[in-house]
Amino acid sequence: MTDHDPAGGDPAHDHWNDETFRRRAHELVDWMADYRVGIENRPVRARSRPGEVADALPTSAPERPEPFEAVMADLERIVLPGLTHWQHPRFFAYFPANATPPSVLAEMLTAALAAQCMLWQTSPAATEMETRTLDWLRQAIGLDAGFTGVIQDSASSATLCAVLTARERATDWLSDRLGLGAVAPLTAYGSPETHSSLEKAVRIAGMGREALTLVPVDAERRMRADLLDRAIAADLAAGRKPAIVVATLGGTGAGGIDDLAAIGPVCRRHGVFLHVDAAWAGSALILPEWRWMIAGIEEADSFVVNPHKWLGVQFDCSAHYVRRPADLVRTLSVSPAYLRTPGRDAVIDYRDWGVPLGRRFRALKLWFVLRLYGLDALRAMLRRHIAWTEELAGRIGADPHFELTSPARLALLSFRFAPKGADPRTLDALNTRLIEAVNDDGRTYLTPNTLDGRKVIRFAIGSHTTERRHVAEAWQVIREIARGL
Ligand SMILES: Cc1ncc(COP(=O)(O)O)c(C=O)c1O
Repeated sequence: MTDHDPAGGDPAHDHWNDETFRRRAHELVDWMADYRVGIENRPVRARSRPGEVADALPTSAPERPEPFEAVMADLERIVLPGLTHWQHPRFFAYFPANATPPSVLAEMLTAALAAQCMLWQTSPAATEMETRTLDWLRQAIGLDAGFTGVIQDSASSATLCAVLTARERATDWLSDRLGLGAVAPLTAYGSPETHSSLEKAVRIAGMGREALTLVPVDAERRMRADLLDRAIAADLAAGRKPAIVVATLGGTGAGGIDDLAAIGPVCRRHGVFLHVDAAWAGSALILPEWRWMIAGIEEADSFVVNPHKWLGVQFDCSAHYVRRPADLVRTLSVSPAYLRTPGRDAVIDYRDWGVPLGRRFRALKLWFVLRLYGLDALRAMLRRHIAWTEELAGRIGADPHFELTSPARLALLSFRFAPKGADPRTLDALNTRLIEAVNDDGRTYLTPNTLDGRKVIRFAIGSHTTERRHVAEAWQVIREIARGL
């Protein structure tokens, strides 16, 4: 038999007919459910050494179909030990990347439907569901109706889109036409608490790394609006053109929450674009008691929150809200003849709202999560995480050998091991050893950080699989390992 028989026999396709798909899909659903049930018994962080997984894989693809069982056996043997388990209930590193069961089911459907959602015409339902579900979310988090949403793959992409739009707005689209050589040097502003995606966006936008000023923060880690004002005025006086300020709700290091009511008027006075990065903390805006975080949002031009972090929507799903979609579209739209469809002025073609042309049907999983949980259950989950973080902060504060280095903010805190009588000069090395030992141990997984020049350990609660006991267990593990150092 030849590899491809012109009479119609294609071995690979015969082998993978619809019945095979049905049978294997049922098996995989069982596999997925078993994975979820057994996840707690796995080490949270992968224990593989660099290159170990690659070394276990053949160096080229097979010419002939392999048995499904062989592939699954290799998944168990090679892949799983090489994975860090983000859905593990004792995963307290970074920020969560939750995949709740409804969102996983929606992803299965998304994969099966495999719609390419670049234009309204290539997927009308996906486009209109994106508009509708993002408006549901807008209302749920208390953003005013002046915001219109689009789903990006990540907050980094949303921030890049904001920087690009701000660049064009600041130059009245001259840089779009002639390039940055034709305009005054542009500037951007964040704070030391701002996520690194801003620096990346500024560099990608061609503004140059030095265009970014990190405005100092106050004792609460909020960007100092008076110093922002001064920095913008100094740049203007030097002939530069301030383009964008990025305010943060929920900084990655210590959860700092910028004061929009103080920053917004500065941006308005100088005509500077204000983007709000609420990638993680924005989910907490579904809680009325946290809505104070967006006091002053009226002055913001765009806003990003990642439902794929804390809200339970499988990665990737980043909700990007803009006040003037026309500016975003003008910045990013390119219209060759093959992408122009009749009647397009009456519909949304989301390909014009982001960098990639091709887009997945991401609204489906947001729709599933919002409908199958309802906002009340999501609120309850977030409130539990916040309460457990406060509880943990109390335990750390009460332990004479540890110190809280940043207080519980939402579901994030940081601390360090500072045993009584230890030489303060040895504490950085001690905490580096502690975090490495804790993460090597496998029972929990945390992230090291440097805060105010000191090595600290971040603890972020956020997995939908986490129960109160898991937080207590992780704290127990940390203390046990610290004692042995
Ligand atoms: C405040 C903040 N902004 C942006 C990001 C980047 O998110 P993404 O991975 O969606 O680009 C993060 C990631 O943790 C974050 O914490």
